[in-house]
Amino acid sequence: MTEKKPFYITTPIYYPSAKLHIGHAYCTTIADSIARFHRLIGEDVFFLTGSDEHGQKIQQKAEEAGVTPIEYVDKIVAGFQNLWKRLNISNDDFIRTTQKRHERVVQEIFNRIYAKGDIYKGSYKGLYCTPCESYWTEHQLDENGCCPDCHRPVQEVSEEAYFFKMSKYADRVLQYIEDHPDFIQPVSRRNEMINFIKQGLDDLCISRTSFDWGIPVPIDPKHVIYVWFDALTNYLTPIGFLDNPEKFQKYWPADLHLVGKEIVRFHTIIWPCILMALDLPLPKKVYGHGWLIVDGDKMSKSKGNVVDPNGLIDEFGADAIRYFLLREINLGQDGNFSRDALIQRINSDLANDLGNLLHRTLNMTIKFQDGVLLAPEGESEVDKSLKVDAKETVDFFKKNMQDMQLSATIKKVWAFISRANKYIDETTPWALAKDPAKKQELANVMYNLAESLRVISVLISPFMPVTAGRIWKQLNLPQAFKDVQIEDIESWGGVPAGLKVGEPEQLFPRIEVEKEEAEKP
Ligand code: MSP
Repeated sequence: MTEKKPFYITTPIYYPSAKLHIGHAYCTTIADSIARFHRLIGEDVFFLTGSDEHGQKIQQKAEEAGVTPIEYVDKIVAGFQNLWKRLNISNDDFIRTTQKRHERVVQEIFNRIYAKGDIYKGSYKGLYCTPCESYWTEHQLDENGCCPDCHRPVQEVSEEAYFFKMSKYADRVLQYIEDHPDFIQPVSRRNEMINFIKQGLDDLCISRTSFDWGIPVPIDPKHVIYVWFDALTNYLTPIGFLDNPEKFQKYWPADLHLVGKEIVRFHTIIWPCILMALDLPLPKKVYGHGWLIVDGDKMSKSKGNVVDPNGLIDEFGADAIRYFLLREINLGQDGNFSRDALIQRINSDLANDLGNLLHRTLNMTIKFQDGVLLAPEGESEVDKSLKVDAKETVDFFKKNMQDMQLSATIKKVWAFISRANKYIDETTPWALAKDPAKKQELANVMYNLAESLRVISVLISPFMPVTAGRIWKQLNLPQAFKDVQIEDIESWGGVPAGLKVGEPEQLFPRIEVEKEEAEKP
């Protein structure tokens, strides 16, 4: 047997400084559907997410709440893990930067880079944005002298600190970005980064003494390691950097770091410098996705426009939310979240297009053929064109999912769903059922519809895993759904002749919009 190709994908590790909102869920859902696609094509996927638990901001929040930092983060992180479970996120590990296994990695990395001469002690005078945990120089501030990312005031700090010689690696990183056009995507982000490095890189201050909620500098424990230096190295911890060379060899370099656009800079400049100092290869791709905005504004607690994903899951179910996020927003761009648009998609695409196709197929099979799918024989022109469309959709799926074109892929799959619904109208099974001479023709139609749904179920599985499994189960297919691979839908005819379909069950109830209106406060 040939070795499976490894595929290592990560999300950012989230700050447990507040509850997660739908914007965080967006990032993790994208990563999950990409991970599920790569499993479907037979790769050996390692999918990592986690929490970024150190730093001054967390320490302050814990103090405000009157608890210790670890008590504070434990509670919030339990909420993250619960949310990912509810959203059916299929991560293979969950890294917490407060875990011992991670602390050891960070300290070892510090030691190695220090021994190499790329970390030195100096004195730091600078401008620090606490909410973003970022240092800035005077010329990087916005027009009001505030943080260029979040536009809040920065603080002047001055302290003894350790520095990482990033300046030494600037030319090499620039060269790497220029030589590897796929490294930073989309291309707009790549250009931003090239311009940023061309302005020159300062050495990076990587330790602090003004608070203590962090990993101690191994050679000087009154210092704690800067939270981004700590956080970025999380990507090395769970794949055996220190304790499992075979695993590490298999998964590193990462195939994809999926991150929000505002943290591309950390992942494509600071992170490569750290990796170069460790003589490790750089990740193959960093993709900076856009933000989910609400009525044109980035979500934030202070603006009061935070959308809680748990509430949405309670109301509409995880798959509907996943579908909306992945279908409605183009990955590289900002996209708007709106409840009205969500309800519209549920009603038209899920309840109507997909739900009806399943319902009509099962009901007619039960009504006209006692629920049994008979062996097809021969094919009409319409049958032929349905099969051609199915094949084309599977090919499109394979190519476009590789290229992370999630929304375009979903649209293509839905075009096939509409096509299958149209096939019912074109073939009119209810009329065929009245004519005993058309028995075989009817059998062919019912078979082709069930087969279309089998293909559709696999094609939607990266986006809506639960719904995909429910369709599979209602079709009563004998193969275990978890073992299904893309090859299983590459040729037509996987439904076994003689299969008795299961009981139809509604996939998505329609949301009554008038009722919604009446219930609005
Ligand atoms: N802890 C750092 C990441 C360290 S990775 C080594 C961090 N955490 S965060 O919780 O602030 O953000 C995590 C991710 O959530 C980022 O990629 C960010 O872009 C994403 N999002 C936060 N709000 C978002 C939206 N409104 N929309 C889409 N993504 C959003 O940064």
